[in-house]
Amino acid sequence: MTTLRPLLVGIVLATLWVIAHTTWQLTRVRGGPQSTGVAADQSQQAGGPSQPVEDTTDPPDDADAAHTLRRQRMVSQQLEARDITDKRVLEAMLKVPRHHFVRDDLIDRAYHDMPLPIEHGQTISQPYIVALMTQLAQPAETAVALDVGTGSGYQAAVLSLLCKHVYSIEIIEGLAETARERLEHQGYENVTVRAGDGYGGWPEHAPFDLIIVAAAPERVPQPLIDQLKPGGRLVIPVGRHYQSLVVVHKEQDGTVRREQVIPVAFVPMTGQAQKDDP
Ligand SMILES: C[S@@+](CC[C@H](N)C(=O)[O-])C[C@H]1O[C@@H](n2cnc3c(N)ncnc32)[C@H](O)[C@@H]1O
Repeated sequence: MTTLRPLLVGIVLATLWVIAHTTWQLTRVRGGPQSTGVAADQSQQAGGPSQPVEDTTDPPDDADAAHTLRRQRMVSQQLEARDITDKRVLEAMLKVPRHHFVRDDLIDRAYHDMPLPIEHGQTISQPYIVALMTQLAQPAETAVALDVGTGSGYQAAVLSLLCKHVYSIEIIEGLAETARERLEHQGYENVTVRAGDGYGGWPEHAPFDLIIVAAAPERVPQPLIDQLKPGGRLVIPVGRHYQSLVVVHKEQDGTVRREQVIPVAFVPMTGQAQKDDP
């Protein structure tokens, strides 16, 4: 028995380590803010698992290679495993370095399946939601796009790889400035950012082939519908307590059709939208 004691102690310690390690990993995968720019109920999406399994094996040491690997996993596990099938969208999501759009202290979570906080109490949307909205907008190489709610600039960067030009408008001046500098620094030359209320669109550059909105008004702003080209698409979260992701299609004859896609949770659209619906 005395000779078996060290062996028994060893087995007990190993078991405790495995339990502690597993709990830590689960906390890490499930943790983080479930705030905005996120699918409210991912189980409602057809054609994909409700929650993709996250691979937590350690990436290689070299920082760039590690981020590239994390991005590849993000695309295969969070996007392809759900319902993102547009090859151009998948390629763009593979190329844009999301870790350059998040706060320094959150770089380790840049490729996690969640929105993350940015400055001024706002968020960068969940990667899946960015990909879904982009896919729904059907960007063509020749398209001129309007992006409402620049935030970190990530959605604008993804669109810039798929369109001819992206006009991006952000109501918080500090965010608009940081995003403009960030996009310029990273060489996204076909993106123009300005501070302003996106409720009114950007009439000087209208009409747009597609419009993507990342903040939720209670009703679709009429100026955005007016600034859509015939054949164009507006992708927007709509609602106060319950939000839906809506695609507004403007047909060639100018008639407008609405399609509800999934429940979502976005920050509210501020500015004129809140004056209309206080
Ligand atoms: C979910 S965050 C943006 C995510 C962003 N697309 C990204 O990739 O990081 C929504 C943004 O919309 C902005 N916003 C809210 N109301 C707005 C309005 N009326 N016009 C323009 N931007 C607005 C917020 O300040 C916030 O930065």
